[in-house]
Amino acid sequence: MNNIIRTVHAAKSYTIGEITTFALKDVSLEIPQGSFTCIVGPSGHGKSTLMHLIGGLDRPSGGKVYIGDTEISRMANNELASLRGKRVGFVFQFFNLLQGLTAIENIEIAMMLAGIPESKQRVRAEELLAVVGLTEKAGSKPGQLSGGQQQRVAIARALANDPDILLMDEPTGNLDSVAEAEVLDLLQGLHRQGKTVVIVTHSDEVAKRAERIIRVKDGEIASKII
Ligand SMILES: Nc1ncnc2c1ncn2[C@@H]1O[C@H](COP(=O)(O)OP(=O)(O)OP(=O)(O)O)[C@@H](O)[C@H]1O
Ligand SMILES: [Mg+2]
Repeated sequence: MNNIIRTVHAAKSYTIGEITTFALKDVSLEIPQGSFTCIVGPSGHGKSTLMHLIGGLDRPSGGKVYIGDTEISRMANNELASLRGKRVGFVFQFFNLLQGLTAIENIEIAMMLAGIPESKQRVRAEELLAVVGLTEKAGSKPGQLSGGQQQRVAIARALANDPDILLMDEPTGNLDSVAEAEVLDLLQGLHRQGKTVVIVTHSDEVAKRAERIIRVKDGEIASKII
């Protein structure tokens, strides 16, 4: 199978004053196209950092990151932004919805950024809200939604550019078990359609559904179940 994402000895350090800490020390991994992968591990051990590197939101301080055959760690910022816009959908750990916009507007703005024509935005945004079961909340602002509902808007937004890679950081972190199962069914359906799904999670229920589990510990890969 083709690897859609690959890291080779990827490292990420942060220097504050005279102290350098390594969020990621040395991570080499491959994620096959169309696979469903979970990244698990203790808090503060580098999972979100890894997610940001493989999605091209951040650059490694050492090593290499590839999407397909392209080394994204060397791309210019504008090229990288364009690649992300075309191919990657993110759900962030703290869903980052724009508070002043309604649910549907949050999805439409992602479409605008992805270059989807304005005439198509509303219909497609409505479809995506229906997919996550929030049609009746289209006009609600994030502050008027529950945590789980906000998370579902964030998932709909991640699908706005019809990405082939979905990177999700704790997409079910605020959901009860019923809502979690619904979101997981949704994500499994997307995986069946051929999308590559990578989920950072602390949830055993999420990990049970994955085909591959990568365990991160102390900024390194502790184990892979593939
Ligand atoms: N911008 C930053 N500046 C300095 N240190 C950072 C920065 N971002 C992350 N770190 C540090 O890197 C380490 C890994 O953070 P990361 O967010 O990747 O952890 P995580 O595994 O996602 O944890 P959690 O499960 O709590 O979300 C932590 O020690 C964190 O303090
Ligand atoms: Mg995190």
